[in-house]
Amino acid sequence: MSTQKIIRRTTVPQIAARKGGEPIVSLTSYHAHTAAIVDKHADFILVGDSLGMVMHGMESTIGVPLDLMIMHGRAVVKGTKKALIVVDMPFGTYEESPNMAFRNAARIMKETGCGAVKLEGGARMAETIRFLTERGIPVMAHIGLTPQSSHVMGGFKTQGRDEDSWPQHEADAKAVTEAGAFSIVLEGMVEPLAARITNQVAVPTIGIGASADCDGQILVLEDMLGLSPWTPKFVKVYGDLGAQIEKAVASYASEVRDRNFPGEDEIYR
Ligand code: KIV
Repeated sequence: MSTQKIIRRTTVPQIAARKGGEPIVSLTSYHAHTAAIVDKHADFILVGDSLGMVMHGMESTIGVPLDLMIMHGRAVVKGTKKALIVVDMPFGTYEESPNMAFRNAARIMKETGCGAVKLEGGARMAETIRFLTERGIPVMAHIGLTPQSSHVMGGFKTQGRDEDSWPQHEADAKAVTEAGAFSIVLEGMVEPLAARITNQVAVPTIGIGASADCDGQILVLEDMLGLSPWTPKFVKVYGDLGAQIEKAVASYASEVRDRNFPGEDEIYR
């Protein structure tokens, strides 16, 4: 009998069961090796469409193609063993109809091996969320500040500053929960609203720039590592990788320029 320990990935029902329990830890990852590090600590890893901005220098997530999500999703699945992997559906791949959403979500699931997809939108996406979940595709919803709609919203603005808007956000949370979403990302939302929604819905809420009272938290990995060119105000930076990379590159550059770079015999000695 093999003594090898079998490590099973966290499942969608396990994440859903964490409502009101031990806080859910999650981060984004876009490539195999960083995902392997994150995998040691995260319950789920999101291959977010923020990769368009963070990895590919895009100004927004609007231009992210499906094939790019699939490529990064596959790398993250390959690099990990333990965490549930959730892959974002990019703009233009799901909004038109439930059929279109199913076709593209099925491609993501089949070609990456991920365990769930995430899509943006509240009540307006409920029919699609129901269509996908009834056909075997677990969906994480995403409400509040939804970057793919930033042109309609007039930028990346915190939602719920005006209390009159709260019923709409609450209705969004209720609609996606009733449609079968197993969890909801609450992004860029005033604290009391995020806390209210967390109390109102039966599935875990995952906050980003929302509230410590959410059932879990997510951050963009490069933001919390100090590696993003621009870091949102709400992000606590836990690392200083940008400065460390620059220091290492500067040392290398000066060794090359000073002809002080180790030769092959020194390296392999
Ligand atoms: O794309 C992304 O990284 C996300 C998180 C910010 C939740 O959707």
